[in-house]
Amino acid sequence: MEKDKEKMTLTNRQGHPISDNQNIRTIGNRGPSTLENYHFIEKISHFDRERIPERVVHARGAGAHGYFEAYGKAGGEPIAKYTRAKLFQEAGKRTPVFVRFSTVVHGGHSPETFRDPRGFAAKFYTEDGNWDLVGNNLKIFFIRDPLKFPDMVHAFRPDPVTNLQNPERFFDFVSNSPEATHMVTFLYSPWGIPANYRQMQGSGVNTYKWVNQAGEAVLVKYHWEPLKQGIKNLTQKEADAIQAKTTSHATQDLYEAIERGDYPEWELCVQIMSDDEHPELDFDPLDPTKLWDHEQFPFLPVGKMVLDRNPENYFAEVEQAAFGTGVLVDGLDFSDDKLLQGRTFSYSDTQRYRVGTNYLQLPINAPKTHVATNQRDGQMAYMVDRAPGQNPHVNYEPSSLGGLKEATPPGKEHQPTYNDKLVREKISRPNDFTQAGETYRKFEDWERDELIYNLVNALKICKPVIQQTMIDHFTKADPDYGRRVAEGLAQAKVDSDHLGSDSLRDGADLAQRSGQRTD
Ligand code: HEM
Repeated sequence: MEKDKEKMTLTNRQGHPISDNQNIRTIGNRGPSTLENYHFIEKISHFDRERIPERVVHARGAGAHGYFEAYGKAGGEPIAKYTRAKLFQEAGKRTPVFVRFSTVVHGGHSPETFRDPRGFAAKFYTEDGNWDLVGNNLKIFFIRDPLKFPDMVHAFRPDPVTNLQNPERFFDFVSNSPEATHMVTFLYSPWGIPANYRQMQGSGVNTYKWVNQAGEAVLVKYHWEPLKQGIKNLTQKEADAIQAKTTSHATQDLYEAIERGDYPEWELCVQIMSDDEHPELDFDPLDPTKLWDHEQFPFLPVGKMVLDRNPENYFAEVEQAAFGTGVLVDGLDFSDDKLLQGRTFSYSDTQRYRVGTNYLQLPINAPKTHVATNQRDGQMAYMVDRAPGQNPHVNYEPSSLGGLKEATPPGKEHQPTYNDKLVREKISRPNDFTQAGETYRKFEDWERDELIYNLVNALKICKPVIQQTMIDHFTKADPDYGRRVAEGLAQAKVDSDHLGSDSLRDGADLAQRSGQRTD
């Protein structure tokens, strides 16, 4: 009893019991305070440092724990044919996971109803160390070269002078980046506002490689398909109605579903291509602005993920979680997708700044397996990650004095060979518009109506040169697409000349249902 009481006693971080947490020390009842108030100074100065920098993108997020269960097969074949990654091999094998969902552009408390891609980042705590699959809900991206990423994010953010969100800056950038046409087509359709985090797909977007025991590689794309909860997207009006009541509906939805035992589930599917340039395709398989056709490259289910536990502390587990595309395990590899390679530098770079040098020692980021390095010290070093039998004096390798040893290679290394000029060049099959047109034609009628409505609404405030370039891009994708946007903008101009600038939004007659799709 006495022991339990002790456990509940408030202390400071030095372990000193705190007997007065209400009053600072002052000279006399009304006098000035003194500087040796250790408890007060520790408490307030810790509070002063409670926030770390937000993520530079994807600042608004929610997370949950769960597990991934492997099927052991891909398309009826034993998965070992394609990859030796241990987490996939045995049917029924479970690997713990932590997933963080997010919106992209705005700050940590921005509304979750914004038209924006959604992040879908999964950390697999495998027996071979961590694997992060850092994806989005949409299966493609705006750009294909990482050099453009900071400009893209600046253009999508509020104006640096007024701090106001201005669609003209967004469309200025994308009209000068024709490769974005396909992504803009998804983003301005209902697929740009998933109903919540549970009822959306996920995708690795970039092309990766799988490597088997013989060191042979295939190209692979990853996709998360929601199982029982299905897919649901919102019209702009539906999103506006939610936003009038709450800015956190998606976080709340995920948390409450897990609390009531309604665990969301996704199936992990892969698309596989042989590891070459595929000259028969009208695009480069390494181009992240492109979908791989379902018929030609079917979705092969390889396992399912269940999220069944909410974090106990948002800051420790969600805010400090650090995912990166460089975090792969044996049997999984990079491709030469340039965007992927640029991303891979950026994630751990920002995390050393955002969370700190020793961010990988935090429980949410640390692997749940053997970790033994000779990395030492640095800000907030939490412990020495050495092996139990390691000579503590030997923090280097190689050594004959009881230091760490290199591991045995797990299989034949995949060794792509290169013999080419060093260049700065666009890829040779950019084909910026064909798939945007295909996507436009595949939409259901209400999705196309909503796309045109949203585009016109945003583009109507843009300069004519931007409007015209966007119409040209949409026309190249599909003449009907370009025509409808052009007509909508012409009508918006007539309305604003005669009736005031918000007339199109107020008068639009659009379908109000949201879609359930499984493809
Ligand atoms: C977060 C960079 C493209 C998905 C981030 C962060 C950076 C970044 C710096 C913040 C990370 C942190 O603070 O922990 C980049 C760069 C890109 C790129 C340089 C292109 C060159 C993409 C693409 C996707 C994506 C194509 C989707 C496939 C995400 C997700 C997060 C994120 C989901 C949030 C991870 C989390 O929940 O902590 N990105 N990104 N990014 N990025 Fe990217």
